[in-house]
Amino acid sequence: MGDIILTGDRPTGRLHLGHYVGSLSQRVELQNSGKYDEIYIEIADSQATTDNFGNIQKIKDNVLEVALDYLSCGIDPKKTTIFLQSQVPELSDLTFYYMNLVTLARLERNPTVKQEIIYRGFNNTIPVGFLTYPISQAADITAFNANIVPVGEDQLPMIEQTREIVRSFNRLYGKTLVEPKAVLPQNKICQRLPGTDGQTKMSKSIGNCIYLADSPEEVQRKIMSMYTDPNHLHVSDPGETEGNPVFIYLEAFSKPKHFLEYFKNKETGELEYKNLDELKAHYQRGGLGDVKVKKFLNYVIQDTLQPIRELRHKYEKNIPEVYRILFEGSERARKVASETLAKVKKAIGLDYRSDIELINSQCEKYGSITFQETKN
Ligand code: TRP
Repeated sequence: MGDIILTGDRPTGRLHLGHYVGSLSQRVELQNSGKYDEIYIEIADSQATTDNFGNIQKIKDNVLEVALDYLSCGIDPKKTTIFLQSQVPELSDLTFYYMNLVTLARLERNPTVKQEIIYRGFNNTIPVGFLTYPISQAADITAFNANIVPVGEDQLPMIEQTREIVRSFNRLYGKTLVEPKAVLPQNKICQRLPGTDGQTKMSKSIGNCIYLADSPEEVQRKIMSMYTDPNHLHVSDPGETEGNPVFIYLEAFSKPKHFLEYFKNKETGELEYKNLDELKAHYQRGGLGDVKVKKFLNYVIQDTLQPIRELRHKYEKNIPEVYRILFEGSERARKVASETLAKVKKAIGLDYRSDIELINSQCEKYGSITFQETKN
C-alpha cells in the first residue's frame, strides 16, 4: 500500500506566516510531488468546539477563512481532499471505542494539552471534551489509514498518543489500524517562526502575526515596525542577527532570486549582497541599518504572498465554490471513514448484522426459530 497523508487545523483564526513555513508550504509540496496515494486535510471544527463551545460562530467564520487560506496557498481540491470534521460523524464513533484504550493519567500527561489548560485558565475545571481531544485526533488519523502526518512540533504528543492507541487496539482486537508517523518541516527555523515582536511564537492572541490574507499595506506596516536587535541604535553600531526576527524571517523566506532582483545595481549589474550570509555579516560588523533590511524583507514577503493573494481574491469571488469543495471533500472522507469504522467494529466484535453464527447459536440455545437474513 502507498503512503497516505492526513493533517489538519482547528479553524479558530486565519492562517499566518508561521503556519505557512511551518506546514502549509510543505503540504503543497507533498501534494505536488505526486508521491502520495491519498492526501486529506481536515478542518477540525469539532475539535475547535472543545475550547470554544461557547462561541461556535467564531469557528464557523474561520472555517471559511482557513479554507480560503488552504486554497490560495495551492492546496488543490483535485489532488487533496479537504473536509470538515463535523461532517464525518464516523469519527466520533471511533473516538468512543478508542477511549477505552487510554487512561485519565495518560491524558493528563500530554504536554501540549497541559500547556493549553494553563493558557486557557481551565485549571480545575477542565471540560472532559477538551482533555480527550487527543483521542479524537487519533480517530481523525486512523480513519483514513494515514501513515504520514505532517505537523508542527506541538502536535507530536498527539501523534504519539495515536501510535499508542493503534498498538493497543491491534494487540487487543487484531491488526486493524495503521500506525502513523509525524513529519516535521525539515528547516529547523520553520518549525517555530517568532512573532513580529520577537516573542517565541506567532500567536493570534498576542497580536504579533502577519496573516496570509493581510493587505500589502498591512504587511508593510507590520514589517517596518518589527522588533530587531534593541542594542542596534545607530546604523554604524554592530548588530545581532541571532534571534533577530527580521533575519529569522529572511532565513525562512528569502531565496537566491530575491537577492538577484533586489540588490542588483542597475548600472554596474553588480550585486550589493549576493546572499543572506553577506547581508548578515554587514549587519554584524555595523553600517547596515534596520530600515534597509526591513525594506528588503518587505520585498521578499510581498513576493511570497502575491500569488497567494491573487488566488485568494479569485476564490473570494466564488464562496459557494469553496463550500462545494468542502461538502464534496467531506462526502469522500465519510466513505473512507465509514469503511474504517466497519472494520473496527468487526474487529471488536460489534457487527451483529454479519454475525449470523452468533444469532443462530442463540436461536439454538432457546430453541427459537432461526434467523432469516432479509435482504435490504
Ligand atoms: N490539533 C490540530 C491543531 O491544533 C488540529 C488537528 C485535528 C490535526 N486533527 C488532526 C492535526 C489530525 C493533524 C492530524 O491545529
